[in-house]
Amino acid sequence: MTATTRFPHRPTPHRTGGGQQTVLALERTPRRPADPREDVISATTNRPVLLASPLRVGRLLLRNRIVAAPMERNYGTRDGRVTERYIAYLRARAAGGAALLFTEATYVRPDGRGRLFQLGAHADHVAPGLRALCDAVHGEGALLGVELNHAGRVAEPYVSGYQPVAPSPVPYAGRVPRELSTDETAQIVHAFAVAARRCVDAGADVVGLHAAHGYLIHQFLSPRTNHRTDRYADPVRFVNEVIVAVRHAVPDAPLVLRISAMEGGT
Ligand SMILES: Cc1cc2nc3c(=O)[nH]c(=O)nc-3n(C[C@H](O)[C@H](O)[C@H](O)COP(=O)(O)O)c2cc1C
Repeated sequence: MTATTRFPHRPTPHRTGGGQQTVLALERTPRRPADPREDVISATTNRPVLLASPLRVGRLLLRNRIVAAPMERNYGTRDGRVTERYIAYLRARAAGGAALLFTEATYVRPDGRGRLFQLGAHADHVAPGLRALCDAVHGEGALLGVELNHAGRVAEPYVSGYQPVAPSPVPYAGRVPRELSTDETAQIVHAFAVAARRCVDAGADVVGLHAAHGYLIHQFLSPRTNHRTDRYADPVRFVNEVIVAVRHAVPDAPLVLRISAMEGGT
């Protein structure tokens, strides 16, 4: 990283243990707008640069603190496979220096698909492409996270071929989704776990769960879209079951849960 970066909190070195090792940690200090340069971190100075320091996450060592967020590209095939174009896209970002790169939201079941060329983790035929993607990212010294998702009521029927499913039949874009039965909801929990295992077997280092942006996990979390009366009426029941199932399926992979801090318009 060569450009200077605005950073909301100033890094402060903390000594830990016997003082042998200097550990950099964020110290929350109120912003002082009077001199904004106080908050600028430059890779060209000899001040501690938190972003550039390695970070241990479970058994993984990130080479720095830069994580490339999941970003829909729609560069896959119609059946969810990784393409050379997508590999080139993420390889370039790995070569750019990020420590951990997430794939775009990747569907765990075909009825949770939102875009024609979205990546899938729903079946074994996607595994070789995922493996090639992991190899390319690893070849640049970075780690790969796969963001698992089910779009629920905002899935596109013209893309997936299915009527969208949802916690409750709350319309979206003029369409009424089919309410999931209790058993089928549990099957989707299982689909997350199977997809996670498939990705880790293909070489993924981190599993991300997309619980934000109005997709299925978020739909269970929100009182706007979850009007259920069974056990999934508890807004955190579904996400907790997904976490437990995925944790069980891939015990060594760090899990990342993406949540929305506020409700959107859908
Ligand atoms: C075109 C586009 C596609 C995105 N795709 C995803 C996605 O697949 N999964 C996800 O969790 N977030 C997705 N996001 C959200 C981004 O990861 C990110 O949170 C957002 O762009 C805000 O970035 P910022 O915090 O740097 O402003 C997408 C955003 C954009 C603009």
